[in-house]
Amino acid sequence: MTIIRGATTVTKDCKEEIFSSVKALLDEIFECNHLAKGEISGFLFSLTSDIHSYHPAKAARECGYDFAPLFAATEPDIDGGLPLCIRLMLFAELQNERQIKHVYQKGAKTLRKDISEIFNIALDGPAGSGKSTIAKVLAKDYNILYLDTGAMYRACGLKALRSGVDPKNPETVAKMLETLDVKVEYKDGKQHTLLDGEDVSTAIRENAVSMAASNISAHRAVREKMVEMQRQIGESMSCVLDGRDIGSTVLPNAKFKFFITADSKVRAMRRFTELQQRGESVDFETLHAEIVARDKQDMEREFSPLVCAKDAIVVDTSNMRIDEVVMTIKKSIQSQI
Ligand code: DC
Repeated sequence: MTIIRGATTVTKDCKEEIFSSVKALLDEIFECNHLAKGEISGFLFSLTSDIHSYHPAKAARECGYDFAPLFAATEPDIDGGLPLCIRLMLFAELQNERQIKHVYQKGAKTLRKDISEIFNIALDGPAGSGKSTIAKVLAKDYNILYLDTGAMYRACGLKALRSGVDPKNPETVAKMLETLDVKVEYKDGKQHTLLDGEDVSTAIRENAVSMAASNISAHRAVREKMVEMQRQIGESMSCVLDGRDIGSTVLPNAKFKFFITADSKVRAMRRFTELQQRGESVDFETLHAEIVARDKQDMEREFSPLVCAKDAIVVDTSNMRIDEVVMTIKKSIQSQI
């Protein structure tokens, strides 16, 4: 017995799309595996619980795959699972030896990174918009890397603070750059940011580092150094990158681009809660003023400012929960594949 696997996704729960997607999946599986009707013992479909309007098994029968038993069952809801997805196990008794191919179409390609090409998801937006939380969830669900590019600028800002360098002064920053050593490493899938060999992943999160990072990231020389590293990572593997200029400058050819934004008061409140949870005491109004100042500075700087790329999809998260944002992005990705 040979089992051939396949999966596909639909962009909405509608009969016509389910029918055409099931047909396209079966047609490709049969064609690329040179399958004959007599070799097939059965079709077992599973579908996510957000599909109600049509049975994949019925669709298969109606498009001519009616020569073996067909069965379809709904999968339980799994946190982080791919939405609107139809999977298939095809049981076959092959009459001659051949190399079989599993077929993953549309959004389901993300289930099998080993057989799909590199894809990058660019998330840009202002501070506190929820980018990093969203990026972490997407990276986990798609089983790809998460590159937090802000952490790299934060490490540069931390170096300036530690060495008494004014992060706004181009000359002293240029001098500091000569010996600056920022690296990112991954341990158990988690990014660690290293400054001169030291893991500064926690230190860079202090509020004082935020403005220093914004100041230092305005210098062309700093950006060139960081962008080069970010490109190397993004071009060599599938990953989610978050930052300010990913879709516009770092990876202008990224397949999926989103601009995540939210009202400045909402963003300040998120940051306020986060810092409070970490035991840092801050005043809300001061934090809000800092966020507005940082947005302005990030948007108005000369070299690769915070900008919404022309082809990015804007997601305003002011009134959305993280799971709703993630689902919106996933559905958009599926509809673009
Ligand atoms: O996302 P964050 O708050 O950790 O970023 C810290 C600062 O780094 C931010 O104010 C602007 C800068 N930054 C940037 O200029 N380009 C990026 N791709 C990421 C961050």
